[in-house]
Amino acid sequence: MRFAIANQKGGVGKTTTAINLAAALAALGRRVLLVDLDPQANATTGVGIEHRELERTVYDSLVGDTPPRSVIKQTGYVNLDILPSTIDLAGAELELVSAIARETKLRRVLDEAGSYDVVFIDCPPSLGLLTVNAMTAADRVLVPIQCEYYALEGLGQLLRNVDLIRSGLNPSLTVGGIILTMYDARTKLSEEVAREVRTHFGDQVFSTIVPRSVRLSEAPSYGQPAIVYDASSRGAKAYVWLAEEFDRRYFPPEVTTQSEPEPRPAEPPEAQPEVQTGPEPETQPEGSTEPQPVIAIDHGEGAA
Ligand SMILES: Nc1ncnc2c1ncn2[C@@H]1O[C@H](COP(=O)(O)OP(=O)(O)OP(=O)(O)O)[C@@H](O)[C@H]1O
Ligand SMILES: [Mg+2]
Repeated sequence: MRFAIANQKGGVGKTTTAINLAAALAALGRRVLLVDLDPQANATTGVGIEHRELERTVYDSLVGDTPPRSVIKQTGYVNLDILPSTIDLAGAELELVSAIARETKLRRVLDEAGSYDVVFIDCPPSLGLLTVNAMTAADRVLVPIQCEYYALEGLGQLLRNVDLIRSGLNPSLTVGGIILTMYDARTKLSEEVAREVRTHFGDQVFSTIVPRSVRLSEAPSYGQPAIVYDASSRGAKAYVWLAEEFDRRYFPPEVTTQSEPEPRPAEPPEAQPEVQTGPEPETQPEGSTEPQPVIAIDHGEGAA
């Protein structure tokens, strides 16, 4: 199944989610392809691939006819491959304009990419041709929403685009989930945004909330997903839980031994100062009495 991770708003956690959800899901045993469709190429470097190492990138498959299998690289992480990008991709947005079937290029590239359980496409912060390609190639759109001011700004436009693409280029496209990111338990605002998003989107919103975590922002500079960089950090754990929730949503257990979804760990960790040893010098004042709802269990997907 293919998922476009999209939101034309910049800096809402698309790439962080793409990298960490992909890595956590790969660690659960799913074969995952991460497609970097952003000329900023942060997903590529975030999994440890240097631009200098790249002879070919997703650009060559999109604009040229380089078979994707010769572009895909293994990351250093089991089950996780990447279709990498560089700044060259910025040219594609323009070059594709005059191409025939310009909106379905990526779909055709991915059809030849080999078999993966899950493909995540990290989109650039725009609704341009690259994002249109991602949505045309995808089965579902995942929308990260930052728990901040103006969180919902532009969301209507994004959803209208999904509708447009569904009615024209990709009839099966739907929103596959909304992910609340950068939740700051110290602020009322985060809580309000989360509540508002849930009111609007109900079950589409993943129960797992990604908190603000310095570790999540540090990890990319080491070319590592957070579960590798600091598995005990709040951010890493949140993405592991998100991956588990994602896995239950999209690969519901059928013939596996456990017929019930795993209960989510007994969270929220009420005033638990980061269970593990390495205290995270995070933004949150850990000593504060404020509970840290790393996850919010407000409706029971598992209860059904
Ligand atoms: N949960 C988080 N806690 C702390 N920092 C975060 C978190 N998620 C993302 N960040 C940081 O915020 C910045 C923006 O995140 P990210 O690059 O994932 O957003 P994006 O939506 O992909 O941005 P763009 O629109 O530019 O592609 C990055 O510096 C990232 O490290
Ligand atoms: Mg990004």
